[in-house]
Amino acid sequence: MHDRVALVTGGSRGIGADVVRALARDGTRVFFTYANAAGAAHALVAELGEATVACAQSDVGDPAAHEPLVARTIARFGRIDTLVNNAGIFAENPFDGDDFAAWRAGWKRTFDVNLFGAVDLAYVAMQQMRAQDVVAHGVRGRVINVASRAAHRGEMTFADYGASKAALVNFTKSIARGCARAGIVAFAVAPGFIETDMATETLAESGPAIRGDIPSGRVGGPDEVASIVAFLASGGADYATGTTIDVNGASYVR
Ligand code: NAI
Repeated sequence: MHDRVALVTGGSRGIGADVVRALARDGTRVFFTYANAAGAAHALVAELGEATVACAQSDVGDPAAHEPLVARTIARFGRIDTLVNNAGIFAENPFDGDDFAAWRAGWKRTFDVNLFGAVDLAYVAMQQMRAQDVVAHGVRGRVINVASRAAHRGEMTFADYGASKAALVNFTKSIARGCARAGIVAFAVAPGFIETDMATETLAESGPAIRGDIPSGRVGGPDEVASIVAFLASGGADYATGTTIDVNGASYVR
């Protein structure tokens, strides 16, 4: 795996940071983005070594950011074998609020980042992948989308988040079927509750109820999502293209 290159969005913390670590451990060179946390991002580069890992600030919700980002990755590491669309945002947006403008803004921002950010960056990264040599059994590139259990469940107080992740799962299927002949495979991972900054507030408010609802009896760690992403990036799952792997302690088994 020593010649592989991955581009990971939102790599400065949480699941993204552990994805960067897991890929680097496997010998993959990783270019990752961060939104604001320059200090944490550069600390991760220092932890893993500048020869292997590089980072750049990039807003995944800004369509103008994707082409320069892919160009920077190519300039630094020469190719993109794997794109991991990890960056995402989460906020409550209840049905029974009384602020229609806030409801609309929530849906728009959530879709701009969680769906259109991933869709647009995949489009640009796949232009590069199509131009690359085949690395294994007809595969030129891999797209891994970090979705959510919310994609499947019908969320009660954050329908926008669930819908954005459901669309991301569907987009994954479309890449798998629509781009297979171009040598591109695609996967989604759908985590349940994972102990990161994103889940801190919800876990603080209702930790016992959430844990009680998880047959495994615990909230997952970001490393437990990262190890699956690393496996999907390894090529070992290429013929399973189009599938979604649930990582939720059996809290929602489909
Ligand atoms: P986190 O909040 O710790 O990390 C999210 C990352 O995305 C951060 O690095 C952040 O800077 C980045 N990001 C957010 N908006 C961005 C933007 N506009 N441009 C660039 N980067 C941006 O959360 P966590 O848990 O690590 O989330 C990673 C992924 O996992 C997200 O897509 C999230 O939806 C998903 N997920 C998380 C779950 C959890 O319980 N923590 C459960 C299910 C899915």
